Amino acid sequence: MKKILFIVGSQRKNSFNTQLAQKLISMISDRVETAVLNYQDVPFFNEDIEYPNPECVAKVKEQVNNAHGLWIITPEYNGQVPGSLKNLLDWLSRPEEKGNWTKGSIIKNKAVMISSVAGKSAGVHVRTSLSSLLKAMRMNLIDDQGSGVALSNEHFASQILTISEKEKDLFEQQIQKFIQYLSVIPK
Ligand SMILES: Cc1cc2nc3c(=O)[nH]c(=O)nc-3n(C[C@H](O)[C@H](O)[C@H](O)COP(=O)(O)O)c2cc1C
Repeated sequence: MKKILFIVGSQRKNSFNTQLAQKLISMISDRVETAVLNYQDVPFFNEDIEYPNPECVAKVKEQVNNAHGLWIITPEYNGQVPGSLKNLLDWLSRPEEKGNWTKGSIIKNKAVMISSVAGKSAGVHVRTSLSSLLKAMRMNLIDDQGSGVALSNEHFASQILTISEKEKDLFEQQIQKFIQYLSVIPK
C-alpha cells in the first residue's frame, strides 16, 4: 500500500485543518496508509544548527522520506503560509549532506496535494502562495490550486468542522487524482 503523510499547518488543539485531515483520512484509509506528522518540536531553522540535523528534525525527515506523497492542509495567516509550516518546509528543502546538492532534498519530486480551511476566501491566497513555494522547492504538485473550505460563523461558534455533500464530492475527486498518481510511481 502507498503511504500518504498529512502535514497540518496549525498547532491548535481544536484546529479545523486537523479536523479536515481526520475526515480525509477516514475517506482514504481503505486505499492508502496514512499518518499525521507531528513537528511541533522542530526548532527555528538556523544554518548554525543544521548539520548534523537535530534529533527531532531527523525523525520528521525520516517520516517524510518514507511517505510516497504528502498532503498539506493549512490555515491562511494574513494571506500567507503560517510560520511554523514555512519553517518546517525550509528544513525539508535542504540537502541531506552539507553543500551536496547532487541528489537534492528529500522533498525534491515528492508528490504533494494541498488543501485549506480558512475564512471566506477558503484559503485561496495561502493555496496560491503555498503552490509557488512548493514549486520553488521542486516538489511535484499534483493539483495546482488544491481544495478549500470556507468557515462560517456557525463553524466558529461550534468549533466543529462540517462539510457539505458537494465539498465531500470535490475531496473524493482530489483523493482519486492523488491515488491515481501514486499508483503509477515505483514502490
Ligand atoms: C494570525 C492569524 C491570521 C489569520 N489570517 C487569516 C487570513 O488571512 N485569511 C483567512 O481566511 N483567515 C485568517 N485567519 C483565520 C483562520 O483562517 C482561522 O482562525 C482558522 O480557524 C485557523 O485554522 P485552524 O482552525 O486549523 O487553527 C487568521 C488567523 C490567525 C490566528
